[in-house]
Amino acid sequence: MYFYGRLRLTLNLHINMQHEHTDNANQFEALFNHATLGMIVTNRNGIIVNANSYAEQQFGYTVQELQGKTVDMLVPYRFQHGHHRQRDVYYQHPAPRRMGEGRDLFAQRKDGTEFPVEISLSNYELQGQMFVIAFIIDITIRKKQEQLVLQQKAELEKITLEIKQLNSLLEEKVEARTNMLRETMSALEKSKEELSEALETEKQLGELKSRFVTMASHEFRTPLSTILSSTYLLEKYTQGEESGKTQKHIGRIKGAVSDMKNILEDFLSLGRLEEGLVTATMQVLTPEELFAEIQNAIHEMEQGLKKDQQVTFVKEGHASVEIDRHLLKNILNNLLSNAIKFSGEGAVIEVKTILQPRLFTLVVKDQGIGIAEDDMERLFGRFFRAKNAVNIQGTGLGLHIITKYLELMHGNIAVESKLNEGTSFTVHLPQKINALP
Ligand SMILES: Nc1ncnc2c1ncn2[C@@H]1O[C@H](COP(=O)(O)OP(=O)(O)OP(=O)(O)O)[C@@H](O)[C@H]1O
Ligand SMILES: [Mg+2]
Repeated sequence: MYFYGRLRLTLNLHINMQHEHTDNANQFEALFNHATLGMIVTNRNGIIVNANSYAEQQFGYTVQELQGKTVDMLVPYRFQHGHHRQRDVYYQHPAPRRMGEGRDLFAQRKDGTEFPVEISLSNYELQGQMFVIAFIIDITIRKKQEQLVLQQKAELEKITLEIKQLNSLLEEKVEARTNMLRETMSALEKSKEELSEALETEKQLGELKSRFVTMASHEFRTPLSTILSSTYLLEKYTQGEESGKTQKHIGRIKGAVSDMKNILEDFLSLGRLEEGLVTATMQVLTPEELFAEIQNAIHEMEQGLKKDQQVTFVKEGHASVEIDRHLLKNILNNLLSNAIKFSGEGAVIEVKTILQPRLFTLVVKDQGIGIAEDDMERLFGRFFRAKNAVNIQGTGLGLHIITKYLELMHGNIAVESKLNEGTSFTVHLPQKINALP
């Protein structure tokens, strides 16, 4: 059953049907049935008299099923008993308004399920009878979205809180770390001061030691020379039966004195080197001058050769050399004394020079006790002596002094050795000049 007449509708629908005209009637019918919101018309007693197709879809009832029933059937069971009263209140003062202002409203489908709704009420009179029309909008999607927004807001609040907590935790940690860092820094500063103090003391002590060694070595030289010269004199004066024995002892004294002299010489050299008192005086030598110099040094050292030991001199290449004569002699003396000392009787020691235009090479090679692999690295350090050399006389300064001399001449030294087979030291002195004098 459809009705036509004068209607006053709120929301988007405000229609005034002044004339009972078929066109208008058709228009209204179309409007009623094609509206995209549910419309339900009830009479004064809350009995449904009509519903549009949209309401049919919303509730799952056909119009026929709805007509003649009370509108309470569309209200969820739990609200049905109160609904009757509210309906009566409205009928007493009917006016277009929203229903359930400030409350969440729910409607109930035929299958008993509920859905959230927004309802506007309006009333009209037709042939002296009052009708109420309810406009129903299903707000399930909007509610879900609202729910979602609320959920997201809650999550956001939770995350914000977590971030805040994390932040304050972080700040605490940063604070703690900063404090730790500050403490470490001040401790570091303190230990730095202590270290530099200790270093300064050490330096002073070192200087004191080396000054003492230099002074002592210097002072020892005079009495030593006296001992030596007196020994020579004694040697001359001693005659007679015991002369052989006396000679032997005098020989021993002479040997010991000369050893001591060498040690003192080393100490003095090192002292002078470390104080920067030694400088290289470079000089250009012809090959012949150089060979003579070396031959001379070899000759001097030959006094100390062991039984059947022999030194050979090999010359390769032909070019002049720029060197400090005195330093070269000291280097060769040290290398030769090592070769002699660390080789057995009958061993051959080879001295070799290679004269190239831009490089002077000096090799001293022996067939001695050799050097263990793990001793090689520290060989040129101060006072270093290899494991197999402890029973052989020496202070461990010779090679160290050589490196200092070579530094002064911008040269270098390399070693190759095999335990019990022999050792070879190679000195390189790069040359600026290359023309033959
Ligand atoms: N030709 C060599 N054969 C074997 N070992 C050597 C040789 N030359 C040097 N060494 C090793 O290197 C160490 C250091 O040599 P260095 O000449 O500096 O000291 P030293 O000969 O022991 O003492 P010093 O030269 O001061 O009298 C030696 O003690 C020895 O162990
Ligand atoms: Mg030596």
